[in-house]
Amino acid sequence: MARDTWFETVAIAQERAKKRLPKSAYSSLISASEKGLTVADNVAAFGELGFAPHVIGALDKREMSTTVMGQEISLPVIISPTGVQAIHPDGEVAVARAAAARGTAMGLSSFASKPMEEVIAANPKTFFQIYWLGSRDDIAARAERARAAGAKGLIVTTDWSFSHGRDWGSPKIPEKMDIKTIIKMSPEVITKPRYMWTWGKTLRPPELCVPNQAINGQAAPPFFHAYGEWMGTPAPTWEDIAWLRELWGGPFMLKGVMRIDDAKRAVDAGVSAISVSNHGGNNLDSTPASIRALPAIAEAVGDQVEVLLDGGIRRGSDVVKALALGARAVMLGRAYLWGLAAEGQAGVENVLDIMHGGIDSALRGLGKGSIHDLGPDDILVPEGFTRRLGG
Ligand SMILES: Cc1cc2nc3c(=O)[nH]c(=O)nc-3n(C[C@H](O)[C@H](O)[C@H](O)COP(=O)(O)O)c2cc1C
Repeated sequence: MARDTWFETVAIAQERAKKRLPKSAYSSLISASEKGLTVADNVAAFGELGFAPHVIGALDKREMSTTVMGQEISLPVIISPTGVQAIHPDGEVAVARAAAARGTAMGLSSFASKPMEEVIAANPKTFFQIYWLGSRDDIAARAERARAAGAKGLIVTTDWSFSHGRDWGSPKIPEKMDIKTIIKMSPEVITKPRYMWTWGKTLRPPELCVPNQAINGQAAPPFFHAYGEWMGTPAPTWEDIAWLRELWGGPFMLKGVMRIDDAKRAVDAGVSAISVSNHGGNNLDSTPASIRALPAIAEAVGDQVEVLLDGGIRRGSDVVKALALGARAVMLGRAYLWGLAAEGQAGVENVLDIMHGGIDSALRGLGKGSIHDLGPDDILVPEGFTRRLGG
């Protein structure tokens, strides 16, 4: 009998990912920084928000489709870019296929393991994410490569603060997967037969290279080489953001906005979208949950740019709460990574189905026929919940 691969919640996908992955790979998915205050608040804050359901009046049909940066999507959930290596041999291509199968868009990281050309072929609704790394010419060359590959938009992530310590310890990421490293890592991999089998079938170990950093036909640089270059690159200015937006000329998101003043400056720089985000709690620990910052930012700039949110989304009901507080759509991070680690493409589809089902049941409970009818009256926001940063 075929193995039953289906899981009913993201928490179960996480459990499965933990069971399947070697300790260091699982720990790199958990990530977060310092004491883990922000990553915990990202999730806990959704639990503080309540619903105001109706007892009568549920509608037969519930509309979930919308657009993000010009792309039609069948549910208000897209894939957030994550640079994760060695989780699954099909990596971001599997994620792209899953997103395409469920009618949604994909953010592809600069630090992804698969080349953008392969990912965009699997899901044409792909936005390429750029970190500020190298000279303006290097950045322009990467953007042009993305344009030639058919990327539908750029996501620029500037909030990384190079915080490398965690109270529970960081995994040791090897420079490359040579025989010496494979032997060294074998004790933690040998206890994970399914992981070993998934990679063993491919007859090649994880490469730990970042093909989307390569320009002018160069070979994909190793992860640490690119990371070192990134650390040595001066942080961008608002003029740099306006320059890249102008150069790109199409849909353009600034990811990582947590303050009202920054959201307004992003509007001035000409962006078409922002993501209210703290990088999933991987940066400046003690930054509040992104959902706490959303209402004030949406109120300030929601009529001028598309406002998305990412951080802590684990359920369809979380998506509905974010939409009720002003987000146009949300981006998923760890939730789909756990699905990928657990069951490959099918696991990511499963996570998107969980989101779809959860959004549908919350809309039904709230008596709404469409995500576009959601508003603050549908939820209970406890006093002191929201944070107005930079207001
Ligand atoms: C393991 C991991 C790797 C990530 N890599 C990137 C990246 O390369 N680029 C980026 O813009 N964001 C990256 N992020 C942040 C996500 O895009 C997103 O902001 C965050 O995961 C959302 O929080 P959530 O995981 O609680 O959903 C990463 C997050 C994780 C957990």
